[in-house]
Amino acid sequence: MTSRIHLLSPRLANQIAAGEVVERPANIVKELVENALDAGADRIEIDAEQGGVKLLRIRDNGHGISKDDLPLALSRHATSKIITLDDLEAVGSLGFRGEALASISSVTRLTLTSREQQANEAWQVTAEGRDMVASVSPAAHPVGTTIEVRDLFFNTPARRKFLRTEKTEFSHLEETVNRLALSRYDVGFTLRHNGKVIHALRPASRDIDREKRVAQLLNPAFMDSAVHIEREAAGLTLQGWVGLPTFSRSQADMQYFFVNGRVVRDKLVVHAIKQAYRDVLYHGRHPAFVLYLWLDPKLVDVNVHPTKHEVRFRDGRLVHDYLFRTLHKALADVRPDAQQAPGGRIDDGGQGHPVLAHTQSPASGLEAGEFSEQTRLNWQASPANAGSLNYTGSSGVSPSAVSEQLQAYQSLSQPLSQPLSADNGSQAVAPMLPQSDDEDMPPLGFAIAQLHGIYILAQNAMGMVVVDMHAAHERITYERLKLAVDEQGIQSQPLLVPETLAVSEREADAAEQYAEEFQRLGVVLARVGPESILIRQIPVLLQQANVAQLITDMLSDLMQHGSSDRILAFRNEVLSTMACHGSVRANRKLTLPEMNALLRDMEATERSGQCNHGRPTWTQMTMPELDKLFLRGR
Ligand SMILES: Nc1ncnc2c1ncn2[C@@H]1O[C@H](COP(=O)(O)OP(=O)(O)OP(=O)(O)O)[C@@H](O)[C@H]1O
Ligand SMILES: [Mg+2]
Repeated sequence: MTSRIHLLSPRLANQIAAGEVVERPANIVKELVENALDAGADRIEIDAEQGGVKLLRIRDNGHGISKDDLPLALSRHATSKIITLDDLEAVGSLGFRGEALASISSVTRLTLTSREQQANEAWQVTAEGRDMVASVSPAAHPVGTTIEVRDLFFNTPARRKFLRTEKTEFSHLEETVNRLALSRYDVGFTLRHNGKVIHALRPASRDIDREKRVAQLLNPAFMDSAVHIEREAAGLTLQGWVGLPTFSRSQADMQYFFVNGRVVRDKLVVHAIKQAYRDVLYHGRHPAFVLYLWLDPKLVDVNVHPTKHEVRFRDGRLVHDYLFRTLHKALADVRPDAQQAPGGRIDDGGQGHPVLAHTQSPASGLEAGEFSEQTRLNWQASPANAGSLNYTGSSGVSPSAVSEQLQAYQSLSQPLSQPLSADNGSQAVAPMLPQSDDEDMPPLGFAIAQLHGIYILAQNAMGMVVVDMHAAHERITYERLKLAVDEQGIQSQPLLVPETLAVSEREADAAEQYAEEFQRLGVVLARVGPESILIRQIPVLLQQANVAQLITDMLSDLMQHGSSDRILAFRNEVLSTMACHGSVRANRKLTLPEMNALLRDMEATERSGQCNHGRPTWTQMTMPELDKLFLRGR
């Protein structure tokens, strides 16, 4: 008898559907706030009790729902947002399935009250998860909609058991509201929990107000350490803020990405951003960012996940490339720049960070080379450049100089018993300060002294600069090594004994398909069976790597993202270690010209704001900050 086919009751069908959409109060808030946004509201109030399990009330001032449509609003597959498949393919609204209210009302006690713009009275429907046939009655309500949802999972006890503590549920809920509030600055949001106001965010139209909202929702320190991004190319626009590597997190908990205004968690996006940070972030640290990607809605499919948290890009590779290149460049551009207002602080418990230079290139195509040339500041001809460290000039390195340079770095790492420069006679003691002419003052100023053999103390136009000598030199050496190795190209070497690798058939296919890509990276593979490949040749710098693991990982990258930067990453790790050993150690006395040369090199070097491990290399304390410290001018 039970094995006969029959139609599910609407209620059960909705409850099953609800399983995909409603897992906890936060999901309900997401759906209801999205509905309010779709209705054009610019004020949204969210009240929650007991983590949202007992009660959720979302009130908006949007266009409301007409009396006749009210019962339909709660039925499944009923929507005002799309009519045809074409609409779906270019959908601009957050909702489109006509499913949220039906699902929510099947597992809660729901009351919807709404008044349309032209209507002179409001109407109300209620649903208690039972018959799903709603009755409409008159009510009092201003233009807009209020949805009240009580007793989540009151009729599905098994699912109620999966709810966590009030505190946990509320923190999920708050996080959801934060994400939505970051998606629409023009909308005011109020969030209350058990009667207490948690957030009261007014609509923000000016840049400064938007930044304030970000600071309030994430962390004020994030805004202080963020690089602003604004870039348009190939029909894609990326805006927002990325945290400096010196502001990294132990968890991936400050990552906000929006595609056409929709909150999205996407593997491809995460991968591209991680890759952009790879060279500046220490292992296990996570970047912080708030980024908005805009593109033609036709180029992205939002209908791939029940909670719409994932999207599918029509040209994933283009998006990946664009994200990576844009962010990689933005991070490379972070270096001392006198033009920028001081952002560094000393008095915040080690959270100090360099002043930012975030020159953005104007909108243009994604031509190769576009990202490689940095705008050089014009202080390179500064007389202080005549330093006596091994890195006198910042100009290009010829391939032949590489091995020479590597040797030089090797010798640098030997602890010296005497100052680096033997004849530092008279010029070393002459403080290289320009004649109080701020115009000629380079961003990091001129060295005054060395502190305990660790820090360089310098004076610039804004006040005092403190540089971690070793960290700074390490970054400069590292960037140099990369440049040198880049120019030399990848040196590849056949393995004495080729290694056979057992892989899946798909992986073996990929190995064949990407043979050229591998070759470009110095890896020569041959397929020797349906499920095995032979590694014939690998780059010299990879000699110490676990090659089998590396190749397997690369295959999986290539299959997923169409590109892999693992060889580069491993090579950089090797160079980073070399740079660390090849950099000036603490307790080495530097002469003033040496110190000045280091400062000039920092100014000219990409990513010099942090060392290879993501720690800051320098910090600034301005005169006003010093004055404040000494209660001057109070
Ligand atoms: N706050 C609101 N203001 C005005 N209309 C609303 C509001 N909430 C819901 N509606 C109306 O009710 C309909 C059903 O809402 P529901 O959230 O169930 O579906 P949807 O938003 O169309 O699609 P999705 O299931 O993807 O969210 C909407 O299409 C909209 O017309
Ligand atoms: Mg909806």
